[in-house]
Amino acid sequence: MNPVTYHAEDGLAIITIDHPPVNAMSLSVRAGLADAVTAATSAGHTHGIIQCHGRTFVAGGDISEFGKPPQEPHLPDVYQQIEDSPIIWLAAMFGTVLGGGFELAMACDFRLSTATSRFGLPEVNLGLVPGAGGTQRLPRLVGAELAADLCCSGRMISASELLEAGGLDAIVQEPLDVAAKAFLESPSAARTPTSVSQRSVTAVPADFFADQKVKVTKAAKGATAPLDNLRAVEWTTKIPFSEGQPMERQLHLTLRNSEQSVALRHAFFAERLVAKPDAIKNGNVKPFQSIAIVGGGLMGSGIAAACLLAGLEVRMIEVNPQTGISNVDNLLQSALKRGKIDKAGLQKKMSMLQCSDDYSIAAQCDIAIEAVFEDLAVKQTVFKDLAKHLRSDAIIATNTSYINPLDIAADTDNPSRIVGLHFFSPAHIMKLLEIVRTPHTSTDVLATSFAFAKKLGKTGVLSGICDGFIGNRMLAAYRRQADYLLADGASPLQIDNAMRNYGMPMGPYQLQDLTGLQIGYANRKRLAPTRDPAERYIPIADQLCELERFGQRNGAGWYIYEQGSRQPHNDQKVIDLINEYSRQQNITRQSFDESDIQQRLIAVLANEGARILEEGIAERELDIDMVKIHGYGFPRWRGGPMHAAAQAGDDAIRDALNRVITQSPDSWTLANKYALSR
Ligand code: COA
Repeated sequence: MNPVTYHAEDGLAIITIDHPPVNAMSLSVRAGLADAVTAATSAGHTHGIIQCHGRTFVAGGDISEFGKPPQEPHLPDVYQQIEDSPIIWLAAMFGTVLGGGFELAMACDFRLSTATSRFGLPEVNLGLVPGAGGTQRLPRLVGAELAADLCCSGRMISASELLEAGGLDAIVQEPLDVAAKAFLESPSAARTPTSVSQRSVTAVPADFFADQKVKVTKAAKGATAPLDNLRAVEWTTKIPFSEGQPMERQLHLTLRNSEQSVALRHAFFAERLVAKPDAIKNGNVKPFQSIAIVGGGLMGSGIAAACLLAGLEVRMIEVNPQTGISNVDNLLQSALKRGKIDKAGLQKKMSMLQCSDDYSIAAQCDIAIEAVFEDLAVKQTVFKDLAKHLRSDAIIATNTSYINPLDIAADTDNPSRIVGLHFFSPAHIMKLLEIVRTPHTSTDVLATSFAFAKKLGKTGVLSGICDGFIGNRMLAAYRRQADYLLADGASPLQIDNAMRNYGMPMGPYQLQDLTGLQIGYANRKRLAPTRDPAERYIPIADQLCELERFGQRNGAGWYIYEQGSRQPHNDQKVIDLINEYSRQQNITRQSFDESDIQQRLIAVLANEGARILEEGIAERELDIDMVKIHGYGFPRWRGGPMHAAAQAGDDAIRDALNRVITQSPDSWTLANKYALSR
């Protein structure tokens, strides 16, 4: 079926795009649109409407085509054909008018929208600049300042903001087709506006682009496309559209092949595929509206806030109900400050929270999540109490970070309803939710867990059972290798700088100081009895804990902090401790350059990820990438550790792993993938 149709109606040319799911500008749509405009022009129409069926106006170019050579007709040519056509075109917009959709609208003469539409040029999020005139027309439509903001951030704006900026002719009531026809008959359409490409850009302050360059570079954290977008917007202040548009197109095509764009496109599709693991293919989502949460501390109150913000009811069981309520209230107050909710919303959310020390308030809940102290016996008792009070079909979940859910649920009947729901702190903000299945978890419970993650606006990732599940197991390998580098010659600052320069928000030592060293300390003690005695064990973090250096919160950890400051300063005492350890172990300290540090740390992540796959803990590499991007700040523009490893190539990873193993023999188990051809 042709995704684009043309017909005449009431003397108007009506072009309709119907290409589910989001009317993306695939090859067939571009070709159909070009043909439709040609046909409408031949028919001698003076006015026409471009509209869409389905859930949105065109939401962009077809991202799935970006990895292939571009095929004619090219989008800028089709849009130029529209702009040059003698017909006065009106774009009738609704939904998310993004990328190629917004560019299409800017090639038309009039732009009409429903009140709820949103607009943007999100190509930057894919490591690109727009390829069909977006950076060249938008400054001419709404001014270079707003255009630079939208192109560099990729953010969407509302119809009312766009109207105010001069980007829309009117916001109209539905039905849109009726409103569009009425507009073309109204006096507003009597005068034909100058084509957007032919307008001049209003002057900006002299230092505007220089200032923006500094701001955009800082915010980009290693991503290069924001600056490319800024550059392209700046052209509009210097050269005409006829010169700027081909330059934009060329830059767009070059960037399509860049590593960053390939990685960001991988992340885009991975984000959608991650919610569809094979394991839930035949699952039915059970309805859920009321969530029981046991524990009102940091995790419990964060999970409660996430549920309330998503419009769910919460029954919190907490020995000290007043503390629970005030913890949740504090989190919602901060959501109020961040503009996420208004005052009335806050009151409404708080009215949906009940807190008691009595489990009977949870009797009618659909899902229960324990978020108590990380102790097996305590969690087992909570599970027993939940099973006693909840409906027999209610889902019972544990938020444990490390403990085997099977052990926690050992005495709970109906094991098919048991699942791990591992939130990351702060739970109302962090996007990741690891959904941990046991061999008994039913498909319906898993499908419901994914629906629950979606309802909370989180990225649910399926994990099997292993120590630390996907995320913390990867983190443990990463930290272990960082410690080996430390013992053998690097400093915490050198390693942190290397990983920050790689694109991480912070390095492993700064991160430990931020989250507190005591969690890792407790974990290492828990694992001590089962640790392979041949494996290198670096006790420096333990020594810091014994010196009560637990991180930022008490002013000292791997670094030292001035009171009230989060700025880390090197501490000679820590350097002495590290040097002393090396001396005791007869280690001749060596120097590691930055790329060597980065390669070794990425290689151990790739190796651990490959083992996680081989053991069936994760279904796909993309699941691991999503865990690291959404839970651990792995740079999105690198696509996650598995994608980054694939980009580097197996040989490069093997080479780095060889160095890792030579440095610390008997300390690593290689994944088959990397071991086989050694
Ligand atoms: N090209 C190709 N496929 C696209 C697409 C695009 N521009 N935009 C969305 N899709 C696909 C998604 O992959 C998904 O496919 P699936 O159902 O097989 O998983 C489907 O359309 C629905 O998208 P989804 O994101 O799940 O729906 P949503 O309603 O939550 O969001 C959008 C809709 C349009 C806001 C969102 O998809 C989006 O931001 N798309 C990208 C827009 C963009 O970057 N445009 C510029 C491209 S240069």
